[in-house]
Amino acid sequence: MKSSRAATKKKGTTAAAARNNPGYLHPITLAVDIGGTGLKVMALDAQGSPLSERMRTPTPDPATPQRVLEALDGLRDRLPACDRVSVGFPGVIKHGQTLTAANLHPDWVGFPLQAMLEKGWKIPVHLANDAAVQGYGAIRGKGVELVLTLGTGLGSALFTDGQLCAGLELGHHPWRKGKTYEDYLGRRGLKKYGKKRWNRLLSKAIEQTAHTFNWDHLFIGGGNAKLINFALPENVSTISNEDGLFGGVALWSYRSRTPQVK
Ligand code: BGC
Repeated sequence: MKSSRAATKKKGTTAAAARNNPGYLHPITLAVDIGGTGLKVMALDAQGSPLSERMRTPTPDPATPQRVLEALDGLRDRLPACDRVSVGFPGVIKHGQTLTAANLHPDWVGFPLQAMLEKGWKIPVHLANDAAVQGYGAIRGKGVELVLTLGTGLGSALFTDGQLCAGLELGHHPWRKGKTYEDYLGRRGLKKYGKKRWNRLLSKAIEQTAHTFNWDHLFIGGGNAKLINFALPENVSTISNEDGLFGGVALWSYRSRTPQVK
């Protein structure tokens, strides 16, 4: 949601200050973003104001469920007490399970991540695809809005009047010469084709998605969005890395309207 993005400016609030400040509004959300190269966490109050720094640790290698859960435990110990957890995960999520994880480890297929975290952390956990969580932090809730994230993988989330169409995996859709969007625009593509060609390909992909989805607005996020070197069309904007975490608060408000991402 837009209001939470303004909260980026409040960075610097310490966990200790959060604990001592009665002005922070509950429920406090522990927002977790599991990425192919980094795990990120931040505590946010009910209005999306950060109660901690955005903390990051490299994604373990191999990125098995057990190694990732251990690393998350380490990050969580450095944060104030929270009432609930939101997790953005780089794969398909259904019924609290991770069904795919192209850039992590095969052991994630069918892993009950929600139940495991709830058991370990003893607070309610809500999981969604990472691009969907980014989207919840950015969308306006009107018309067709597409979110693409440029990182290790290519994330995608499609919203119609604020409703998520769960399960879209544009990154793995064939695009050109038998290769997928992610082959060209994810980390591997960037490395293989170089920044200049990657930018040209991204510009073509934007055009292609406009014809495919007829979006009213396209949001582009992810760590590599900062490498974009061409002028974006009027109805295309970039979103900050923090949106992935701020979206964790919005995720809970959209939850009741989005049964597919339970
Ligand atoms: C995954 C998506 C994810 C994206 C960005 C892709 O490889 O299949 O689910 O959103 O990477 O992390």
